[in-house]
Parts: sequence; C-alpha cells; structure tokens
Amino acid sequence: MNTPIVAQKSPYPVSVEAGKTYAWCTCGGSKSQPLCDGSHKGFGFTPMIFKATKTETIYFCGCKHTKTPPLCDGTHKAL
Ligand code: FES
Ligand code: FES
Repeated sequence: MNTPIVAQKSPYPVSVEAGKTYAWCTCGGSKSQPLCDGSHKGFGFTPMIFKATKTETIYFCGCKHTKTPPLCDGTHKAL
C-alpha cells in the first residue's frame, strides 16, 4: 500500500447530515479536503465512504494516518 500524503496535520471539522454519505479522501491528494475529488486515480487509493447516523459536526482526519478512519484519533500529533 502506498503512503498517503499528509494534507494537513490537523482534522477538518465538517457539519454532516444524518443519512447522507461522504467520501473521505484517503490519499491526501484531493483539492477539496477532507473529501475525495477523484485525484487518487492511478495512485493506488480509493475513498472511504462514511455514512452519517446523526446530524452533527465531526472531525475528519486531515493527516490521513489515523488508526480510526475516517475520523481523527490524534495520530497527527506524532507526525
Ligand atoms: Fe484522495 Fe480520492 S482524491 S481518495
Ligand atoms: Fe489525522 Fe488527526 S488529523 S489523526
């Protein structure tokens, strides 16, 4: 597996809506972080689909190295 690009060393807060799906960028190359914009093509990555169960603000991982994708688990502090 290729190593993802660190898009930023902090999470992205996003207001999600219950029942909607979001494609989290796993490769770090998207220009519309934290979500996939198709830039992963030919790069060995695919986005991770997240389905919101609640309407709330969540913190998508921006460093792409979280152990609990797609959410930030604090791993960015060690990068
Ligand atoms: Fe990164 Fe699609 S652009 S996974
Ligand atoms: Fe990736 Fe926090 S931003 S673990």
